Amino acid sequence: MIKNIKGTKDLFPSDTLNIQDIERHLNIFMNIHGYGEIRTPIFESTELFARSVGEHTDIVNKEMYTWIDQNKQGLTLRPEMTASVVRAYIQKQLWKTEPISKFYYIGPAFRRERPQKGRLRQFHQFGVEAIGSPNPEQDAEIISMAYNIYKMFGVTNLEIKINSLGSGDIREKYSADLKKSLLKFKNEFNEAELIRLEKNPLRILDSKNKKIKKIVDENAPNIFNYISSEDNEHFNSVTDILNELKIPYTHDQKLVRGLDYYTKTVFELISSDLGAQDALCGGGRYDNLVKDLGGENIPSIGFAAGIERLILAMNLENNENLNTDIYIINTEKKYIAKSMELADLLRKELGVAVYVDSLRRSIKSQMRHANKMNAKFSIIFDSEKLKNDEVFIKNMNENKQESILINDIVSYFESE
Ligand code: HAM
Repeated sequence: MIKNIKGTKDLFPSDTLNIQDIERHLNIFMNIHGYGEIRTPIFESTELFARSVGEHTDIVNKEMYTWIDQNKQGLTLRPEMTASVVRAYIQKQLWKTEPISKFYYIGPAFRRERPQKGRLRQFHQFGVEAIGSPNPEQDAEIISMAYNIYKMFGVTNLEIKINSLGSGDIREKYSADLKKSLLKFKNEFNEAELIRLEKNPLRILDSKNKKIKKIVDENAPNIFNYISSEDNEHFNSVTDILNELKIPYTHDQKLVRGLDYYTKTVFELISSDLGAQDALCGGGRYDNLVKDLGGENIPSIGFAAGIERLILAMNLENNENLNTDIYIINTEKKYIAKSMELADLLRKELGVAVYVDSLRRSIKSQMRHANKMNAKFSIIFDSEKLKNDEVFIKNMNENKQESILINDIVSYFESE
C-alpha cells in the first residue's frame, strides 16, 4: 500500500470544513484591515531562500526540500513565504507606483523537521507583510493584528514576546561578543551547539537545553546595551502604542527568531496550551531584505502563523459530515434526471444545499442518510403524486409531510 509521506497529512471534509471556516474569517479580517491577498508559487529558486532566510539557519541548512531541475537550476519548495512575497514585490517594482504595499497569504510551506504534535513537514501558514513603512505604528498594527486574530478565534492563554535586534552592524557586533562570552563554557556545549555558536550564535539565546539556558542567562551580554538610541526609541514607541491598545506583551531580551533577515522589532505569540511547539506565530521587521534581494531601500515588517497550531489551540471538534438543507429522495430510475434538475433549480434560486442520492438506495435508507446529513427537508418523488405534477415535501424536524405542486416548490421554500 502506498502511504502519505511522513510529516504530511490528508485532510478530509471533517478537517477541511473547519479550515474553510478559518480561511473565511481570515479573508474578511485581512480585507477590513486593508491587506490584499497575494499568491506566489510554491517553489522558487534555492538561492532566494539562501540569501534571505540565511545560509546558516536551520531552515536553509537542513530543512529545505531542494532539487536540481532538468536544466540544472536549483529549486526549493518554499519553507516560508516572506522571501517569495519580497521577490514578487521587487520583480513588479511596486515601490514605483505604491508608497506602501500590504499583503496577506494563506498556503502550504515545507520544512524537513522531525514531525511531532504541531510540527509537520508540509504545514500551512497564513501571514501578512507590510512593505514600505519605517514607523513604529506599522509594527504595532502588525502585532495587534496577530493578537486580534487569535482573540477572534477564541484562543486563550496567549502571550506576546517582543524584542529588538537593532539595526546596522549591531547584529554582527553583538553576535561576536556573545560568542566570545559563551566560548568560555565550550566544554558544556555539545557538537551541534558548538556549530551553532560558531555559525549562528544568536540562536544559542533561545536554546531549549536547560544547562545552556543557565549559562546564557548568567553570561550573555544584553542586546539593549548595543542597539542605537534611535532603535531604542523605535522599540519604546512600539510598546507605547501596544500599551495604549491594551495589548499585553513581555519584553524578552532573548527572543531572536530563527531567520536571518530580521532587524529591530521581533515578536512571537505563544500559547501555553500547545506543549513543546508553543509558537503560534512569529514575525518582525526586515528593513534590509528588499534592498538585499535587489530592490530599493524599503523597510518592511510582517508575521506568519501556523494553521495547524491555530487549530490545536482552538481545540476544535471535528465535523461529523457535510450537512445539507434539502435531500431529494429518488424512488425510481426514470425520475433521476428530474430530481437532478430540481436540485439545480433550488441551489440556483435559493442558494441552499441540496443533496441527491446516487446509490439507488431504498427510501428508508435514503431517509436515514437525510437525517445523518441534518437535512431540514426531504423531497420525495412519489410516482402516484407525480401523476398530478406533485411531490411530497417532508419537514424533517417536525416529521410532517405535505404534497406540493412541482412548480410551487421554489415559492414554498421561499416562504419557509
Ligand atoms: P517562522 O517562525 O519560521 O516564521 O514560522 C511562523 C509560524 O509557522 C510558526 O510560529 C509556526 O506556527 C508555524 N510553523 C513553522 N514551522 C512549522 C512546522 N514545521 N509545522 C507546523 N507549523 C510550523 C516565518 O516563517 C516568517 N516568514 C515569519 C515572518 C513573516 N516574518 C516576517 N514576515
